[in-house]
Amino acid sequence: MKNVARVAIVTGAGAGIGKNAALSLYRAGYAVAICARRKETLDEVIEEAGVEDDQALALSVDVGDPDAIRNLFDETVKKFGRIDVVFNNAGISAPPVPIDELTNEQWQNVVNTNFSGTFYGMREAFRVMKTQNPKGGRIINNGSISAHTPRPFSAPYTSTKHAITGITKSGCLDGRGHNIVVCQIDIGNAVTPMTERMAKGILQPDGSMKPEARVDVQQIGDLVVHMANMPLDANIPFATIMAPEMPFFGRG
Ligand SMILES: NC(=O)c1ccc[n+]([C@@H]2O[C@H](COP(=O)([O-])OP(=O)(O)OC[C@H]3O[C@@H](n4cnc5c(N)ncnc54)[C@H](OP(=O)(O)O)[C@@H]3O)[C@@H](O)[C@H]2O)c1
Repeated sequence: MKNVARVAIVTGAGAGIGKNAALSLYRAGYAVAICARRKETLDEVIEEAGVEDDQALALSVDVGDPDAIRNLFDETVKKFGRIDVVFNNAGISAPPVPIDELTNEQWQNVVNTNFSGTFYGMREAFRVMKTQNPKGGRIINNGSISAHTPRPFSAPYTSTKHAITGITKSGCLDGRGHNIVVCQIDIGNAVTPMTERMAKGILQPDGSMKPEARVDVQQIGDLVVHMANMPLDANIPFATIMAPEMPFFGRG
């Protein structure tokens, strides 16, 4: 076991925001354990980061599997000695169809990944952070501006992202006395594979199709590093980050 200065876990790190956050944390000197279901994408991230084996750990994990998440945390502690920062990032959406056309499987997949996955990550983070020495750490949950306002035909995504806001607030309370700080980033359209369709034109609440502005994903990575580096006596409970032209505020 090697003890390094700062240790982070990033879920869903094989692409998009998780990948950028992991690369940004590696550059900032963190040892980072990364997970996603496809191990080969994680190996590519570590290669791109150009870090040595003693700064990186990659495990194939489905965040909806509580045993796999527990193993990820155990392996991270075994390799790096502690955990300072957890970015609960992995998330998916369901096809944009009316609620009555959603299948049980589509609903369960989103609930398991977005909500249960965040809960399992928080539970394991609390378990480790409560008992390590020095005590404590920071958990960053990935919400969305959908944690505040829905898109049309987005019941699974919107409701699980609202639920993440609730568990973030709960975690803020439960972390008191243990030096555990919980916070959330709410992104509006970062440039990732998930938002490719938004640049082309996406359904608006008034029934029209319009392309939407997106924000450079590096801005998200930089924000994650900023939050990760904050001392544990300071918190930004919720940080909203989006392109200024993003259709989030406004009404007729
Ligand atoms: N992009 C945006 O503008 C935006 C806006 C608001 C919120 N968000 C949130 O940001 C997070 C990441 O979004 P993204 O745009 O970066 O998505 P993405 O480009 O589709 O990447 C998602 C990553 O998560 C992994 N993943 C998916 N399901 C997983 C599971 N069950 N277990 C473990 N890993 C899983 C994927 O790898 P595998 O398929 O190999 O597992 C992939 O590495 C999500 O929570 C999303 O809701 C994104």
